[in-house]
Amino acid sequence: MTVLVTGGAGYIGSHTVLALVESGETVVVIDDLSTGFPYLLPDGVSLFKGNIGDENFVESVINSCGVECIFHFAASVVVSDSMRDPLAYYSNNTAVTCNLLRVAVKCGVTRLIFSSTAAVYGNPDHVPVAENATMRPLSPYGSSKMMAEQLLHDVAVAHDLNYVVLRYFNVAGADPSARTGLATAGATHLFKIAVEAATEQRDRVDVFGIDYSTPDGSCIRDFIHVSDLAQAHLAALSYLRKGGQSTVLNCGYGRGYSVLEIIETVQRISRCKFAVKVANRRLGDIMTLIADTSRIRTVLDWTPRYDNIDIITEHALAWEIKSLNRFKSGRTTS
Ligand code: UFG
Repeated sequence: MTVLVTGGAGYIGSHTVLALVESGETVVVIDDLSTGFPYLLPDGVSLFKGNIGDENFVESVINSCGVECIFHFAASVVVSDSMRDPLAYYSNNTAVTCNLLRVAVKCGVTRLIFSSTAAVYGNPDHVPVAENATMRPLSPYGSSKMMAEQLLHDVAVAHDLNYVVLRYFNVAGADPSARTGLATAGATHLFKIAVEAATEQRDRVDVFGIDYSTPDGSCIRDFIHVSDLAQAHLAALSYLRKGGQSTVLNCGYGRGYSVLEIIETVQRISRCKFAVKVANRRLGDIMTLIADTSRIRTVLDWTPRYDNIDIITEHALAWEIKSLNRFKSGRTTS
């Protein structure tokens, strides 16, 4: 049986494809290559270029490849962009998931693993935040994912479909052997921006607010290594194959680092004291987000391997340096 990965040529998708292939799964990818790159995929994986919103296209891939389970990564993921262009987020993240579910039900696919986000929580009342916390997203991005979760729930109740929703906290790092990593241009994520500064691709890092009620005034996030997150997806697949019921799981380590701590770590590991400037708060930002990880550790057979901020930084830097060399040698798109 085949596993379909939507958005498999992107950052988290490509790490999951790699892990799936290494564990012996047959994998096909659908990606429109808007933010993904074919060179991030391991050899032997079929890539179908197209949009998940195109139901006929998705149906033909599912039927021709005998798809048993769908991993749905394809989405728009930048919180600040969603504040500027909410309709794009509701289209790409909510409406497209609706299309995908319609095709999945029609084709008899019975398992789906959905990429959700800690942004569904907004500013939680309690930290670490558990899955049953009230969802109060602060951005259209968070709302678009919350609505997609609801769609999935309702469809699963009505049809023969089981799912695992994985709510990602802040994903960082890269494959330990630098076979794939975050390649998207114009990154907005803290880690990517800091490693770009450490490799002299930008002249400074702006800190969006040091007037929050946190120990050092900057926001706090729970950073999870992307390869550990990929393994959580494999564990979710095993769980569903063993007959596990639909569930929602936080994906983080349960420990927070402030923006300033991350910057200090990247400066220390890279030995590059790049400039740091305090800037205004960024619209839509949550102050403190840390996962309560009890549920994922109980439900899934998953043990993180890279729960260490220095290792995450080393892997992110190694990938950045490799990407830079690739860019300098002119190999950018294939
Ligand atoms: N930040 C800066 N300077 C930058 C970039 C970011 O200070 O140049 C700060 C942000 O203000 C925020 C923190 O670093 O406080 C993290 O910001 P990111 O942009 O790296 O990530 P977000 O927390 O905004 O969002 C990410 C994912 C979402 C996910 C969320 C969960 O993009 O999908 O983490 O915490 F929902």
